[in-house]
Amino acid sequence: MKKILFVCLGNICRSPLAEALFRKHVEANDLQHAFSCDSCGTADYHIGKSPDQRSVDNARANGLQYTHRGRQLSDKDFEEFDYIIAMDESNLFDIQRRNHTGHSNIFKMRDFDSVNKGSDVPDPYFGGLSGFQDVYDILDRSASLLLQELSTSQES
Ligand code: 4NP
Repeated sequence: MKKILFVCLGNICRSPLAEALFRKHVEANDLQHAFSCDSCGTADYHIGKSPDQRSVDNARANGLQYTHRGRQLSDKDFEEFDYIIAMDESNLFDIQRRNHTGHSNIFKMRDFDSVNKGSDVPDPYFGGLSGFQDVYDILDRSASLLLQELSTSQES
């Protein structure tokens, strides 16, 4: 069982959606026995909160329903999860700053993307509604490619 943690800043826009989309692809491929996932934020702004309503509405318009409660990244996450996936460079920096155990599987979501590989998943929080669809498309594609990569890698 590979355990994957998706991380953004607030854990209300990008990472809960990344988690939901990754799970969608896991289920579509009947790989529930092989993968589990969760999400969290580097910041403590939205602990206990539901995902941003704009993200939820946009996902629903794309046929995806999900729920989550915001939580903050903790030391225990570095022991518990096999892969830690940051949404952007700033998240990656914050995660690495807390990486006291030498966790070596920390990546950015778009390291796995086929478009603008290695770039950031833009933060839609302060922008317009179209930003939420952009993020949905980026995360849907990247989550699928991440799953492909992890399914074919040697480690189990
Ligand atoms: P997220 O988006 O990191 O994708 O969940 C944000 C949510 C909230 C804030 C910033 C980004 N905020 O500043 O409250």
